Amino acid sequence: MSVMRLGYVHVRVTDLDDASRHYEKTLGLQAMGQQGPCRYFKGWDEFDHHSVVIEEGGVGLVKLGMKVSSSDDLARFEANLARFGVTTERMAAGESHKVGEGLRVFLPTGQTLELYTDMEYVGNELGTFNPHAVIRDPRGLTVPRLDHMLIAGEDPALTERMFTECLDFHVSERLITDIESNDLVATWLFAGQTSHDIALIKGEQGKLHHFAFWLEDWQSILRAGDVFAYDDTPVDYGPTRHGITRGTTVYFFDPAGNRNEVFTGSYRCYADTPTITWTMDTFPRALSALQREVNESFLTVFT
Ligand SMILES: [Fe+2]
Repeated sequence: MSVMRLGYVHVRVTDLDDASRHYEKTLGLQAMGQQGPCRYFKGWDEFDHHSVVIEEGGVGLVKLGMKVSSSDDLARFEANLARFGVTTERMAAGESHKVGEGLRVFLPTGQTLELYTDMEYVGNELGTFNPHAVIRDPRGLTVPRLDHMLIAGEDPALTERMFTECLDFHVSERLITDIESNDLVATWLFAGQTSHDIALIKGEQGKLHHFAFWLEDWQSILRAGDVFAYDDTPVDYGPTRHGITRGTTVYFFDPAGNRNEVFTGSYRCYADTPTITWTMDTFPRALSALQREVNESFLTVFT
């Protein structure tokens, strides 16, 4: 394993206090302080300093980070990406708050990916010595951790090749237009053993569709809907079960309009797990195995 996980998502928000209420009170993330225009948050079962960064001013993705096992992997990735023709630059420790040195990758789909090996260790909320199983007092959705994200761009096939050929990712599922043309609409990629760490969809260059947080089970997904009702959180879609990834889900928006998701279920992946293919004629079932309906905003709202 070389890329271990999606480490952080950094987004713009129109109002820091409104967004902080959403991420801290509704989702139940732990507030990790402010540095300049940015506030930092983590899930209760995450060990590094932060997994979500919000920055005052607008909406949409600033960058994403993925944690890599070793500096040898970083050097290998840097050489692979140069051969592939993707622009990168080295980043010094501290350029991103609490993050060590790394490699900044300018994805063909237009987003900025930071690969890093170290972030300040703060520990989870249970500790690592004779720990309890859960935190004592639930807060909001009691989100344990960040899980994955979906980004858009004009050429998802090229970025898919970049992730698989340069960064050792594998493809769990692909959505194509039809068998004859085989044009890629979207792809789900994993580096660890979850169904996806990142997914790519054909669309406007450099955009964010959503980033997702893990929840423990289906009951927690249903309870998320109840909390959204209390907090007037705008729900986009769900709760339902996806055909793609078999995950159970609710999509919703933060106060700035960035789409979030809570997600659980799905299946375990290995390097030899075969890729599942879907065609667009089955898209309603691929999106929602239960309702088999596609809502307009899910396909049109990107930030
Ligand atoms: Fe998702």
